[in-house]
Amino acid sequence: MARIVAPSETNVENAARTLRDGGLVAFPTETVYGLGAAARDPRALARLYAAKGRPSDHPVIVHLASASALGGWAREVPSAAERLAAAFWPGPLTLGLRRAEHVPDAVTGGQDTVGLRVPDHPLALALLRAFDDGVAAPSANRFGRISPTTAAHVAQEFEGIELTVLDGGPCRVGVESTIVDLSAGAPRLLRPGGVTLARLEEVLGERVELAGHLRTDAEATSRRHAAETPRAPGGLARHYAPATPTERIAPEALPGRLGGGGAGLGVLARRPAPAGFEGVWIAMPEGPTDYARALYAALRRLDASGCRTIVLEEVPDTAAWLAVRDRLRRASARPESSERGLVGSAGQEGT
Ligand code: TXA
Ligand code: MG
Repeated sequence: MARIVAPSETNVENAARTLRDGGLVAFPTETVYGLGAAARDPRALARLYAAKGRPSDHPVIVHLASASALGGWAREVPSAAERLAAAFWPGPLTLGLRRAEHVPDAVTGGQDTVGLRVPDHPLALALLRAFDDGVAAPSANRFGRISPTTAAHVAQEFEGIELTVLDGGPCRVGVESTIVDLSAGAPRLLRPGGVTLARLEEVLGERVELAGHLRTDAEATSRRHAAETPRAPGGLARHYAPATPTERIAPEALPGRLGGGGAGLGVLARRPAPAGFEGVWIAMPEGPTDYARALYAALRRLDASGCRTIVLEEVPDTAAWLAVRDRLRRASARPESSERGLVGSAGQEGT
């Protein structure tokens, strides 16, 4: 049974002990909840992968208490990494760096890089300090499914599993961290998230290249580029996905899609439901920051509502909406562009 516990000092100490013993602990971050395991302990990592139903060649992010621990996990720390860490940590940014020798393959998915981040949440930081070492933590959901932004979401995901969930309330950012790869010289955005591209470029004083799958929304292009970007998070087309069939629609086409009353539809849109709408409608916030914060809880609600189809109203195609657009695209990707073909295991259903 997943057990939700209050954010007390004792519970944090117990959680750190669980990590030291090779166990799993779910904890809040400012982005989404993470499912943590000791990042140096291959047995703990195996447990983590099993709990998530995640393919073992898929890398996980190592969470650190402070940027001063970077050198212990990365073989070299380029000055761009130092600048980004100084500007955004603790915060919703993950840096991809060349890994230090000792970093287990289970963390890197066998790649030569390691993803590192210092999260901006008092409970996460308290846990990391108490544990006093790196904590590997993917989002605390079954592989491919919607990331959790409350402790209750985590408990739903891992109902039958022995797991302590530290309750830190709802997550402030609501979508996952921005991932920037710095391992190959020029910075490359692998996943848009809590830190915007504009802020990254401002701090780096140079352009940040977008990984192929982010360059266009077009499904076909996305798939082509995804195949060229093995194991990068965005390389997986269907991810963060509801179990209910999900589609995206342009704002101007939405009224027509509602047809005769819209019974059986679950709609996510930045406007109120029209009079007489018979389905389930969630009116989303206007701006990208508030929208991102509300997104995953809204998708979960629609998924649990019994609707037959989820319809996502498209959001503006501007830089400020990059992270949200990416998540909407993934939530509505067709099954044939699922993870299966790319990582060679675990399809989108029930993972
Ligand atoms: O906001 C977040 O980053 C949350 C919280 C818990 O910190 N974590 C998170 O972890 O989203 P996860 O595992 O659900 O997604 C991390 C993504 C994965 O899709 C993985 O492919 C990618 O990061 N990743 C991790 N290490 C990598 C690396 N060395 N190179 C490329 N991608 C990497
Ligand atoms: Mg995830």
